[in-house]
Amino acid sequence: MQTAAIHFDRFNTLSDADAHERIRAARERLGKKAVILCHHYQRADVYQHADLTGDSLKLSRNASQTDAEWIVFCGVHFMAEVADIMSRPEQISILPDMAAGCSMADMASLAKVERCWRELSEVLDPDEVVTPVTYINSSADLKAFCGEHGGIVCTSSNAPKILEWSLARREKVLFFPDQHLGRWSGYKRDIPMDEMMVWDPDLEMGGLSPAEIKKAKLFLWKGHCSVHQMFQPGHILRFRNEHPDGLVVSHPESSFEVCRQSDYVGSTEHIIKVVKESAPGTRWLVGTELNLVQRLAEEVKAEGKIVQFMAPTVCMCSTMQRIDPQHLAWTLENLAEGKVVNRITVPPHEAVLAKLALERMLEVS
Ligand code: 13P
Ligand code: SF4
Repeated sequence: MQTAAIHFDRFNTLSDADAHERIRAARERLGKKAVILCHHYQRADVYQHADLTGDSLKLSRNASQTDAEWIVFCGVHFMAEVADIMSRPEQISILPDMAAGCSMADMASLAKVERCWRELSEVLDPDEVVTPVTYINSSADLKAFCGEHGGIVCTSSNAPKILEWSLARREKVLFFPDQHLGRWSGYKRDIPMDEMMVWDPDLEMGGLSPAEIKKAKLFLWKGHCSVHQMFQPGHILRFRNEHPDGLVVSHPESSFEVCRQSDYVGSTEHIIKVVKESAPGTRWLVGTELNLVQRLAEEVKAEGKIVQFMAPTVCMCSTMQRIDPQHLAWTLENLAEGKVVNRITVPPHEAVLAKLALERMLEVS
């Protein structure tokens, strides 16, 4: 007789120690049938159970290469969607807590992007002159929109390259949902500042005049990351005054001024690489999520490297933080019993188009 899945209520009050014990026991029962993918921002008590870790680009490749039947994604919703799109049809993608979303991804919706496309068509023919580029931090239907309209996906590690690819095809780019990553990538590709126009989806015609729409090379969707917007140029200034020999590295979701004043700018994978490859004794100021910074500080401490977090206040990715040992234990124990909980599925017609845009990206990068 088929039994129901175990309810999360039975795990909610589990102590961390018990949750870890049950995660280990369930993993032993599951063997290679399940793989745990973890983004670098994941909290330490979950990260320790990862089979594979990485930034968004690396994890999307991992998802397309794993043979495991169940892909347990310790990240946020769009990442588990990418795993579902990139894996084989019989593989199942799981997000241990459905509340783990990305607030930036929520700043663009298909309805708003379609409205933008319609409004642009009052001034020009977007399908002729505009390549839509979506940051991977977006819902699957927006990736499908890009697939359908000759567009592409990018991540924080390949955005300038993707912009170059896009501008080689059509003269303009609509970049969503992160204006900061878009602006930094445009700057890296020598697009003049006055040809990058912010598109405000809450205003008619994005708040732009027909003349501005004609002049723009890059439309920057008015979205941002609530974590990275906390970093300020003043934090870098203070650090440089106190430590003139120190180095600064930031994630490109930070503001343009923060990126411009940093010595290095790159994805989470890149940040880890530059700090790990630096000379012993180097002091770093790092502008990205706190879990990553704390882990990195620990890992390089023995080489005399000092890693400091950029903001004076605590800023974590509070949504990713929702995946805790209790949710992971619940997910894995159900899988060990043959029950799938929190499956993430992208409708097939969307998945085909979204995959097209993702594959274009993997080919270019
Ligand atoms: P990465 O591309 O470095 O994984 O960044 C993803 C992200 O969400 C950063 O906020
Ligand atoms: Fe989204 Fe920002 Fe969290 Fe990254 S850090 S997943 S962009 S909310």
